[in-house]
Amino acid sequence: MKLTVRPRRLRGSEALRKMVRETRVDAASLIYPMFVTEGRDKREAIEAMPGQYRYSLDRMGEALDALAEAGVNSIMLFGIPEHKDPVGSQAYAPDGIVQRAVARAKLLHPEMFVITDVCMCEYTSHGHCGVLCDHDVDNDRTLALLAKTALSHVEAGADMVAPSDMMDGRVRAIRDALDANGFSNRPIMSYAVKFASSFYGPFREAAGSAPAFGDRRGYQMDYHNRREAMKEALLDVEEGADILMVKPAMAYLDLVREVRDATNLPVAAYSVSGEYAMVKAAAERGWIDERKIVCEMAVAAFRAGAGIYLTYFAKELAECIREGLIG
Ligand code: PBG
Repeated sequence: MKLTVRPRRLRGSEALRKMVRETRVDAASLIYPMFVTEGRDKREAIEAMPGQYRYSLDRMGEALDALAEAGVNSIMLFGIPEHKDPVGSQAYAPDGIVQRAVARAKLLHPEMFVITDVCMCEYTSHGHCGVLCDHDVDNDRTLALLAKTALSHVEAGADMVAPSDMMDGRVRAIRDALDANGFSNRPIMSYAVKFASSFYGPFREAAGSAPAFGDRRGYQMDYHNRREAMKEALLDVEEGADILMVKPAMAYLDLVREVRDATNLPVAAYSVSGEYAMVKAAAERGWIDERKIVCEMAVAAFRAGAGIYLTYFAKELAECIREGLIG
């Protein structure tokens, strides 16, 4: 048969397939989300996230060593405090769990890039992402506390802060607070496009942050909406975000692409706890090949336009990259 175009010609060998590959993956683009908790000698298993743990500060070094060994150089810290109260005071306490974890991570691994999640839901007794006024989160009063939290993180040594609360105006409030205190050089990675998602279920078990009443639909986005996602993304650009995140990842890759095309900021995709749990559960039953699925999910996020990928599989992915499974 006379065929002018034969796409299969470029698939004939591994060398050629790699040569014409359109998406390159690199361990430098990975961020590992990590849970830290009060107490000593703790490495508590998280039931719905097999292989993930809550580390006490004296044991977080183990996890950092393993990450560094695999080639993962960035972490994002989530803290689980001992005491919660209605105003989440442990979120911005100078000696809070995250503040101390940042300092410890920088001490143990000075080259590690340490990001902090800035939110109040792990710290409030009611589990919402801000302070309440009746049964609603009071946006503007929450902004001041988020700014204070972010500032306390960078004072502790955080290299970047990542607000995940979805309050209006929080990127600007945080930017102003950092700038006013001599931290104009610290970037903000905004959870700009964050949906109210059931994919966060296992995280809430891990962080003990499920809302005591109601849900987060009053501040996180309705997943039916695409234009609203772009409105949020562009607003965060205006407010001074340095990196825009889309979350969750796998079911939201259309928006990763759209944000990529609409802005010139780096775009991050967060493969969340529910994505991790689903892969683990199916792999445990032998129904899928865990490593291959993890690679495919990651490459899909990069192909969609992400330049940064947050995943609980960061270490495993870095190993896959090193072994040449993807890259
Ligand atoms: C805090 C926060 C959440 C996640 C990241 N930051 C939970 C939530 O919004 O309920 C979810 C991460 C995951 O599921 O892996 N607001």
